[in-house]
Amino acid sequence: MIEFHAVTNRFPDGTLAVDDFSLVLPSYKTTVFVGTSGSGKTTLLRMINRMVDPTSGSIDIDGADIGTLEPVKLRRGIGYVMQNSGLLPHRKVIDNVATVPMLRGMPKKRAREEALQLLDTVGLDRSLANRYPSQLSGGQQQRVGVARGLAVNPNILLMDEPFGAVDPIVRAELQQELLRLQRELGKTVVFVTHDIDEAFLLGDQVVILRTGGKVAQVGSPAEILANPIDEFVATFVGADRGKRSLHVENHGDGDIVVDETGRLAGVLVGSSTTSSRASAASQSGSESQCGSESKAGPRGPGASAQGGDSR
Ligand SMILES: Nc1ncnc2c1ncn2[C@@H]1O[C@H](COP(=O)(O)OP(=O)(O)O)[C@@H](O)[C@H]1O
Ligand SMILES: [Mg+2]
Repeated sequence: MIEFHAVTNRFPDGTLAVDDFSLVLPSYKTTVFVGTSGSGKTTLLRMINRMVDPTSGSIDIDGADIGTLEPVKLRRGIGYVMQNSGLLPHRKVIDNVATVPMLRGMPKKRAREEALQLLDTVGLDRSLANRYPSQLSGGQQQRVGVARGLAVNPNILLMDEPFGAVDPIVRAELQQELLRLQRELGKTVVFVTHDIDEAFLLGDQVVILRTGGKVAQVGSPAEILANPIDEFVATFVGADRGKRSLHVENHGDGDIVVDETGRLAGVLVGSSTTSSRASAASQSGSESQCGSESKAGPRGPGASAQGGDSR
């Protein structure tokens, strides 16, 4: 468990990047910080492994104040994945993954063997191990970045916009891979993004930030989507435009889900035509799939909380 206690970070030039931030990030879950550029996401993330220290306040990991821990020791339990993979260009893939464990004293042979296993873990073919980063696609480079983050076998994985620089199709694959990895590995993941759809897809807990690391709302994707706390959040999650107001239409052969403009958003599965409306409304998406929508799922007519009428 990671706990922020009234954490403030003011940079020497006077910029207030994070202002009085308090939050509990539960273990073995994914917490996503989402906000526009400059809202303090990276600063929040970097304070967890002491790349940046708070000006005031404290951060505890499993009950210990990290301000009292040696940064090098602290980072042994924390993996870090950054936006442009951060790979060393003159090192082969295998060495990029094996470097940190070797720096920490692991024998070279074992570090390289474990690096190959990590390539399997992140879905990369071992034949890529002897390539240089520039000989990989953007998506492959990001996978190597994830493998490198996992190489220290951390309890905590920090990910700073790791999929921001790849095209949408590859990004969708990487997101699914991360969900699979998280099911298998059960790390405490702290993920930063400016993309609300990515936040809703990946986060168990989503933290919507305003400038200055100010929390606009914290909750599960379903809680935030069903009940945006104010105009700012409603706009950020697209509720105000009715973007999230999906409803079910019956087309004879089956039920389809459409958005507020009548555009196709997905197909309801596991429902028979006559009873499906009631079932979709009462089960709130548990049997349904809906394209790129969040795991909060499509909403039946009885559950369309984002009508836009009350805001
Ligand atoms: N080293 C630094 N020195 C001064 N200001 C900084 C530094 N790093 C970040 N900032 C400022 O702090 C604010 C938050 O930055 P950051 O945490 O990088 O935001 P985000 O990751 O959400 O884009 C921004 O206004 C940024 O310009
Ligand atoms: Mg950032």
